[in-house]
Amino acid sequence: MNRSFIPKAVEADSLTVNYDKTSVLWDVSFHIPKGVIVGLLGPNGAGKSTLLKAALKLIKPLSGQIVTAGSVAYVPQRETVDWDFPITAEEAVLMGRYGKLGLFGRLKRADKEAALAALEQVGLSGCAHRQISQFSGGQRQRLFIARALVQNADLLLLDEPFAGVDLATEKAIMAILRKQKELGKTILIVHHGLQSVKEYFDWALLLKTRLYGCGPVDEIFTRDMIVKAFGKDQSLFAEAADLSAKSISGHL
Ligand SMILES: Nc1ncnc2c1ncn2[C@@H]1O[C@H](COP(=O)(O)OP(=O)(O)O)[C@@H](O)[C@H]1O
Ligand SMILES: [Mg+2]
Repeated sequence: MNRSFIPKAVEADSLTVNYDKTSVLWDVSFHIPKGVIVGLLGPNGAGKSTLLKAALKLIKPLSGQIVTAGSVAYVPQRETVDWDFPITAEEAVLMGRYGKLGLFGRLKRADKEAALAALEQVGLSGCAHRQISQFSGGQRQRLFIARALVQNADLLLLDEPFAGVDLATEKAIMAILRKQKELGKTILIVHHGLQSVKEYFDWALLLKTRLYGCGPVDEIFTRDMIVKAFGKDQSLFAEAADLSAKSISGHL
């Protein structure tokens, strides 16, 4: 099948984003096909969060553009949220439905049912009436995932969903996201755990202000590419690529 006929979920075209006079994204062009799980990888300050915000139209590019097909749900980096805000888990998830209501819309029974179903999916149905301030780190992350799921969006953008989350929760979240993929959704995840890249993602996007690669993970997440993108000092990246290559060949 000719690749160009696969529908695109995200397309960036010479995207440049500045904060003041400094470019944090420079001439970034790529596309992501529909229905894949993509790992967005790069060191701190690489512009990963900025790329998501540009895709959400929260930030205006200096030049170029990034376009998304269909509806988008967003899981922001957890520390950017006020967790003392006095609402219950159910209310927090229902906030994900407001976008669907329109001008005079009101939350209906169906919205409430969808919220409870989303909480159930992330294993929090027992906590629906608890205040979010009482939630642990892992529970907060799962709550965010529920709020994204309830939107039933075509594209999910998740910014470091596994930061400060235990491995069991991380695996549980990945299982939920794989189910979303089976439903035809496209999922873009900012991720730091390099040893799990080949296990988790179909595609990888390597970013450090510039784009270093975007494509099927086996083509992009190689030792050569990683050293090229991040320099020889990034031996951690190289080791991770070797490790995951080993664990993959071990399974064959
Ligand atoms: N609102 C802002 N104003 C000025 N500089 C910013 C702002 N947000 C991020 N930056 C800077 O832009 C660069 C990229 O940030 P970010 O997209 O958050 O990177 P990442 O998510 O890859 O760690 C960093 O150097 C950061 O300090
Ligand atoms: Mg970030």
